[in-house]
Amino acid sequence: MGLYNDKVMDHFMHPRNVGEIPDADGTGVYGSPVCGDMMQVQIKVDDNDVITDCKFKTFGCGSAIASSSMATEMMKGKTVEEALKISNSTIVDELGGLPSQKLHCSVLADHAIKHAIYDYAQKTGKTYEGLKGFD
Ligand code: FES
Ligand code: FES
Repeated sequence: MGLYNDKVMDHFMHPRNVGEIPDADGTGVYGSPVCGDMMQVQIKVDDNDVITDCKFKTFGCGSAIASSSMATEMMKGKTVEEALKISNSTIVDELGGLPSQKLHCSVLADHAIKHAIYDYAQKTGKTYEGLKGFD
C-alpha cells in the first residue's frame, strides 16, 4: 500500500469545488507557517445562514488539495455555526487518514475555512460561538 489511501488519492486526482465564487459572501486566505503554501476558500451563505457553495484554490501539495476538496464538501449544506466545528482532525478522519508528516496540510484547510467564515462574520456583523478567540 502506498503512502496515501484511495480516498485521499481520489480527492487529489479529482478535487471537488476548485475555483472562485465571484460574488462570495466570505473569502479567506491562509499561508502555512510550516511550508509557506497558500490556500483561498470562499463561501456563499443564504438567508438561513446555510453555506450553499464553497470553493477553494491552493498553492499546495497533494495533501493540501485533498484536504481542501474534502473540507469544501463538508462545508456545503451546513449552517455557519455547524461548519465551524470542522477541524483539521475531522477533515483527516473523513479522508481516512493522512501520513503524519502531511497532517499540517490539513491545518492549512482548517485555517482557510475559518478565515472565510471570519470574513463573512465581519461583513455581516454576525457573531458565532465557534469563532470565539479567532482573529
Ligand atoms: Fe505544502 Fe502540504 S500544503 S506540503
Ligand atoms: Fe504546505 Fe504542508 S507543506 S501545508
